[in-house]
Amino acid sequence: MESIKIGLLGFGTVGKGTYDVLKRNQEEIKRRAGRGIEVTRIAVRDIAKARSGLGEAGASIPVDTDGAALVDDPKVDIVVETIGGTGIARDLVLRAIRNGKHVVTANKALLAVHGSEIFEAASQRGVMVAFEAAVAGGVPIIKALREGLTANRIEWIAGIINGTTNFILSSMRERGVDFATALADAQRLGYAETDPTFDIEGVDAAHKVTIMSAIAFGVPVQFERAHIEGISKLDSIDIRYAEELGYRIKLLGIARRAATGIELRVHPTLIPSKRLLANVEGAMNAIVVQGDAVGATLYYGKGAGAEPTASAVVADLVDVTRLHTADPHNRVPHLAFQPDRLSDTPILPIDEITSSYYLRLRVADVTGVLANITRILADRDISIDALLQKESEEVSVDGRSETDIVLVTHETIEKNVNVAIALIEALDTVKGAVTKLRMESLN
Ligand code: NAP
Ligand code: HSE
Repeated sequence: MESIKIGLLGFGTVGKGTYDVLKRNQEEIKRRAGRGIEVTRIAVRDIAKARSGLGEAGASIPVDTDGAALVDDPKVDIVVETIGGTGIARDLVLRAIRNGKHVVTANKALLAVHGSEIFEAASQRGVMVAFEAAVAGGVPIIKALREGLTANRIEWIAGIINGTTNFILSSMRERGVDFATALADAQRLGYAETDPTFDIEGVDAAHKVTIMSAIAFGVPVQFERAHIEGISKLDSIDIRYAEELGYRIKLLGIARRAATGIELRVHPTLIPSKRLLANVEGAMNAIVVQGDAVGATLYYGKGAGAEPTASAVVADLVDVTRLHTADPHNRVPHLAFQPDRLSDTPILPIDEITSSYYLRLRVADVTGVLANITRILADRDISIDALLQKESEEVSVDGRSETDIVLVTHETIEKNVNVAIALIEALDTVKGAVTKLRMESLN
């Protein structure tokens, strides 16, 4: 049978990785897909750079700067979008769909923000949009959620889904390098987004957890409702105190089914250091999915980089090749649930989530200070699970001393903690702002 024809938009880290894997493993891939999968044209901005990446062996593949011509080309069966972002990538993906072409994309930003529009257009036109590479790179988490776990009512998902920030946190903790050096290393290794603030500020992880939440709970993709905090404001003293308490701090993406809605959030999180997730280091990704029937399952692997990501893109290409002649109604729905059966369960505001909390305070080391703080917490039904008090430090010429206190609370609703923090910060004996970090037991 004739090969299926691929038009490749972009030839950067993921685009070139995809080309290389397809070429190297072409015979194995053909045996699996039932026919060859062949890159027949490429669109980029810098033709010379792409040419050099293609080398002698790829010299016959046409490369130009006309993405629109590529998606209009009747000879292209599947468009692989590896440009990134929500601008030209959105226009080209929608145009490819209108032209009746299947799309494979690694672009989580595009799907988290414009997923509803794109999946609706694809359903109308009867084409597939496959996006395994968009979440956790080479880890087949989309396949697992959408197909492997369909028997389950998913209860929660918690994942390390940004390699760059995990690499930075690991490098700072293990090698003692500073934030800027660790980020530069991640960029050099091809993990970071074009705009690395997306990684550092938690936006990339929020894109990914938004996509997972839609598939897990059968709700539309709602990136605008996700609560997002990154690692740029994380103080290294909290990494140290967390360790003393038996925890590690990880940037987690969390999606949880709660009684009144869905929690959708990304933030630095303390997790017990004995949990597998706490020991995921470097650029590795890992996701725990809790289903009511199966219990907890864990997915681990490389979440970024050329060939790990290409592994997911090529897996999608094989899927699309196998299924493209199937009746569209018999294909796996884009978001796992039938498009007309999506639920309108609300995404909860961050004030309404339930968590336990790590609170760090700087206090004057005087009698009664702790009693005042614990009374404020008790008045709001917030119970304390652990307490760490550091040795006092002389901080002023009059011999007054101050100390750090760290309180770990049991689970409570976030708005209660926020009220308590405001009252604690108003105490004369408390110096400056209280640092609040969320904690997850992942039981
Ligand atoms: P990249 O290395 O920056 O590559 C982007 C490619 O797109 C380049 O070849 C660039 O061409 C091309 N491009 C940009 N604007 C274009 C335009 N208007 N027309 C045609 N081509 C254009 O990016 P990447 O790291 O491969 O990431 C691509 C996508 O994969 C993003 O959505 C990213 O979030 C996602 N992703 C990346 C990773 C990873 O590890 N890097 C992992 C998972 C998912 P020039 O080089 O000629 O400018
Ligand atoms: N910038 C992303 C990361 C790439 O660091 O995980 C993979 O999506």
